[in-house]
Amino acid sequence: MNKLKMLAAAALAAAMLPVFPTYNAEATDTEDSSLRCDVNGDLTIGAADMVMLSRYLLGAQGITAAEAERADCNGDGTVDAFDLVGLREQYVYNCSHIPQGTWIAEDMSGTRYFWFDENREGTFTRCDNGTLTPFRLTSTGGKLTFALSSGAPTGAAISWTDDTHFSLKWDGAGLENFRYVSDVRFDKGPYLSGTYVIDGREKEISFGTNYSASLSGKSFNVLPQRDAVWFLYDDGTSEAASFSRTDKNHFALKWQDGRTANFTRREITVKDGITYVNGILVANKTYSLPSTYDPKGLTPEFSKAFTEMKNAAADDGIGLTICSGYRSYSYQKQLYEKYVAVDGKAAADTYSARAGHSEHQTGLAADINAAEEWFIGTPEAKWLDKNCWKYGFIIRYPEEKQDITGYIYEPWHVRYLGKENAKLVHDSGLTLEEYLGIDSKYAY
Ligand code: DAL
Ligand code: ZN
Repeated sequence: MNKLKMLAAAALAAAMLPVFPTYNAEATDTEDSSLRCDVNGDLTIGAADMVMLSRYLLGAQGITAAEAERADCNGDGTVDAFDLVGLREQYVYNCSHIPQGTWIAEDMSGTRYFWFDENREGTFTRCDNGTLTPFRLTSTGGKLTFALSSGAPTGAAISWTDDTHFSLKWDGAGLENFRYVSDVRFDKGPYLSGTYVIDGREKEISFGTNYSASLSGKSFNVLPQRDAVWFLYDDGTSEAASFSRTDKNHFALKWQDGRTANFTRREITVKDGITYVNGILVANKTYSLPSTYDPKGLTPEFSKAFTEMKNAAADDGIGLTICSGYRSYSYQKQLYEKYVAVDGKAAADTYSARAGHSEHQTGLAADINAAEEWFIGTPEAKWLDKNCWKYGFIIRYPEEKQDITGYIYEPWHVRYLGKENAKLVHDSGLTLEEYLGIDSKYAY
């Protein structure tokens, strides 16, 4: 098969590849790379090679064993006129093909990701420092010129090995080998950074700023794309997983062998003894508030949102009033101790928070109409359940989630999260604990 046919076959094979083309992380050649058809070994395929091969074929000049090896373009073990044809075809191919899509490149100084778009513009990113450099491409013959916004343009001769591999011989520098990754632009995306818990809370993965990630103490590189994530391991192997996002805090990966993993963004910060998860103030059995934390009432945000909700409910013929709003640390202590005296500690813990653990101390939660069993199933309870998210609230302790929230069903207890977060939590169908990847359990 001649070179062009081989390339055409390779292109066809590439077109039929599954969604994730697998590539072999073969050892990358650098300075001593031998390119097929590069007779004189200058790491480019050009007129000089054709001249050399022609002269040799005409008997005018001998070539060394290494040169003969490179001159055997079709790999049939002899150097003859067919190789000259192949060399010309290779040269023409190199002159006429400009890479497109995302490529991983390796040279002696490390790994880079290149993106080539249809308009001869692109970017490259160094894997080690994450810097992204835009370029404009021009081509003449087999020579590409990369014009950067700063600095002088840099030229490189391109040599295609097959449809998914090429190398660039940079002017005055060595070879850089490129492997095709995807026709999709690599994109870190706005959300693929930070810390995530995987499948509940067994493992935590951190995505760094430089396409790096670490999991269970092992670090590796990631190449996030629109609908896939490539994992590039230190031993040179790699694997891809399809990527689907549920919302800005959740995504799932599915590997080709069927493995799946659910990722929940969880950034925990503690300020003045108060815990925030992804910026949301959390008070539950795991995360407590300092006894000194005292907003002195429901927050203005809560009150404003509640008024809006109350008015909307009234339009629907539903009356909403707050029966218990802000509760101080000391008041919660009295309440809880009263319940313990009546019901015992184990039972009290299912419906009343210990001091420092109540959302009522945050000024961001309140009980509506009646914190009593008869409230369940009333039109008011149903209206709240259906509509409160529109005003920035969630039903904090939903039915049958006691194992997760730590409390029995409380259709009257609403927590203010703000409209964006309330909608996200509502739409997820998850409790706040599940949504944030946290638990609610007393340590004592
Ligand atoms: N009833 C809720 C859990 C509280 O005491 O804060
Ligand atoms: Zn409550």
